[in-house]
Amino acid sequence: MEDYSTILVETHQRVGLIRLNRPEALNALNATILKELNTALQSFDGDEGIGAMVITGDERAFAAGADIKEMADSSAVEMLQRDNISAFDRIMEITKPIIAAVSGWCLGGGNELAMSCDMIIASESAKFGQPEINLGVIPGAGGTQRLTRAVGKAVAMEMVLNNRTLPAREALEHGLVNRVVPVETYLEEALKLAREIADRAPLAVRFGKAAVNRAFESALRDGLAEERSAFYFLFSSQDQKEGMQAFVEKRKPTWQGK
Ligand code: CAA
Repeated sequence: MEDYSTILVETHQRVGLIRLNRPEALNALNATILKELNTALQSFDGDEGIGAMVITGDERAFAAGADIKEMADSSAVEMLQRDNISAFDRIMEITKPIIAAVSGWCLGGGNELAMSCDMIIASESAKFGQPEINLGVIPGAGGTQRLTRAVGKAVAMEMVLNNRTLPAREALEHGLVNRVVPVETYLEEALKLAREIADRAPLAVRFGKAAVNRAFESALRDGLAEERSAFYFLFSSQDQKEGMQAFVEKRKPTWQGK
């Protein structure tokens, strides 16, 4: 396994767990952590023994945003050349499901990272926000787009223009997170959900994730066309034969990922 300085990586059965590990900076996302996060995600994505991933921080913070100290003195050209934000594009290419297990601060780039995952499990102490306006900038890693799609224009405008922070319960009400659980169990809940998904038919999970995400990127007609070809394509898999045969025979299916 790689030698990382800003993340901790573990496996829990068929689940890859990545812990953001810069507690001294509330897990602020600097160039190194984004690079290491991508390396770990790509490595799990290519590992046949892994079916899903969880990204978490610690109890105090999932991540308090991009690293302000790293970029405070940067020029526009330096920001462009460094292009830390391209790390978020690479997360979009991960084919296996990623669950964010969020506790405490989930701000700016941290919230953008959580929203780049496929699902979010929040602890009761989680707080979601896009405070870039306080720094004289706007979200740069998808915040204005993913947040608006998740919570709608009204709430997104308040968060982006006036630093409205959503406590976990409000984030749930507005559809930003999947569920809210006690602080003591948020990571276990996320791992449990990831384990359940990791035990499902791998090809169907892969195409299901891609098809749902396509809904955010395409016109309805294009999304429907992609969904339909994926659905038909899955009939060339052994897992489809096994899954439907098992239903008919009233038994549990055994998935091959083929
Ligand atoms: N970047 C760098 N360091 C950060 C940081 C960040 N985003 N957030 C917190 N830290 C550091 C603090 O500077 C502090 O370090 P020192 O002990 O060396 O001073 C340490 O983490 C602990 O933070 P605080 O003492 O501030 O903790 P607190 O409990 O008093 O406050 C907080 C918590 C409200 C989250 C506060 O830290 C805060 O406002 N952080 C900044 C949040 C923010 O503005 N995020 C957006 C960043 S821009 C962005 O993300 C752009 C994008 O879209 C990509």
